[in-house]
Amino acid sequence: MFTDSTFSLLLDPYRFISRKCRDQDADLFQTRLLLKKTVCMTGRDAAEQFYDPRHFTRTGAAPEPILATLFGKGGVQGLDGKAHRNRKQMFISVMTPENIDQLAKLTANWWNAYLERWVLTESVVLYDELQEILTGAVCTWAGVRLKGGELSRRAKELTAMFDSAAEIGPGHLQARLARRRAENWIGNMVETIRSSGDDSEVKSPLEVVAWHRDLNGELLSPRIAAVEVLNLLRPTVAISVFIVFAAHALNIHHESREKLYARENGYDELFVQEVRRLYPFFPLFRALVREGFEWEEYRFAKGMPVILDLYGTNNDPREWDSPNEFRPERFHNRDEDAFGFIPQGGGNHHVHHRCPGEWITIALMKVALEFLVFRMSYDVPKQDLSINWRQLPAIPKSRFVICNIKRPVLEPSAGETAAVITKRAVGSSGGSR
Ligand code: HEM
Repeated sequence: MFTDSTFSLLLDPYRFISRKCRDQDADLFQTRLLLKKTVCMTGRDAAEQFYDPRHFTRTGAAPEPILATLFGKGGVQGLDGKAHRNRKQMFISVMTPENIDQLAKLTANWWNAYLERWVLTESVVLYDELQEILTGAVCTWAGVRLKGGELSRRAKELTAMFDSAAEIGPGHLQARLARRRAENWIGNMVETIRSSGDDSEVKSPLEVVAWHRDLNGELLSPRIAAVEVLNLLRPTVAISVFIVFAAHALNIHHESREKLYARENGYDELFVQEVRRLYPFFPLFRALVREGFEWEEYRFAKGMPVILDLYGTNNDPREWDSPNEFRPERFHNRDEDAFGFIPQGGGNHHVHHRCPGEWITIALMKVALEFLVFRMSYDVPKQDLSINWRQLPAIPKSRFVICNIKRPVLEPSAGETAAVITKRAVGSSGGSR
């Protein structure tokens, strides 16, 4: 008999699995979640198993409430094998250095435009403002046209899909509604592209998805194409979470701010990686056992749900020295490990389900550091900055308010700014290509 752990997991979604594994001195344990027998596992060796496609399948792995909000139905997340490779290649094909550079520049332009307004106001909620900045930038980049006055509504929809998906009650319903509206919005654009053109001049990411063909040479249905375009837009807006965490870290770790300010060689990269490692964003991921196998003297039965603890793996004391301390230097000369550092999934970007947006995430976080350290000064008024560990994502309770915002007197010219930012943003983004 195994007790049901659903409540314990909801109470502490980021730390429940690693705590329990540590208590039992094990990499995994069996429990029940929503009454279903489930294995929970943590650590780099567990991640290596989890990303082995011989052992696990993603088909049917995501629970319906997550499909109806965060992922969308029929998207790349639920595919396996050749169908997955075909769809994944579509995403990888838009992640060229030039495209990432372009998105970084657009983000800097949108941030500059918002900064113009911020200097005239008393205070702003950084998390909310970033959602609009990133929505504006990624829609322009993707070729998704926003009509006048539409930005704020679309930013709210894209945000609801990741910010309210895990809520119980009205928040979750709002996330479902947001997805339905967004899929209609993008689905109509896909149909317009197909009806008014041909695929000989495919340029924007929206067009790449609209004209993508599956293994049978068929176009995706407009709704599934919309799901995949939203798989570019929504997570880019979600980088607002990591940027708020970066601002949180800058506010506490003054020595790190000084090193960034001194432009210590490559320190921005170390800082970004440490924010992605330490701060709680994506807690875990679920797959189903494809074929029965044995690991760590445990028999994984075909069809059984298995959960990998992403957050606990990034903070595993067997891998990381003093894992709860913010120490960007730990990434200096650290060998890349596709399974030990998995804030956005593990394995190979092309072959496995690892996030194809990792390079964009790193690039846009560097743009954010450039602004937060060099292009603006601000005060952080008294507020509740504690991390809400029960919430997904666990952003600070106040959503990070800043005030007294100014542009520094000795600011580089606009041209110089864009050049410096993009050079730094895409110069050395980590991860394997
Ligand atoms: C905000 C920061 C981000 C976080 C925390 C994040 C996290 C993740 C995680 C945990 C996965 C699942 C890995 C797995 O299935 O094992 C994933 C997959 C994915 N991410 Fe991200 N991501 C982020 C940004 C992005 C961006 C910017 C994009 C695109 C522009 C993106 C697009 C995707 C797609 C399409 C998948 C599915 C890949 C597949 O199933 O093969 N993500 N992400």
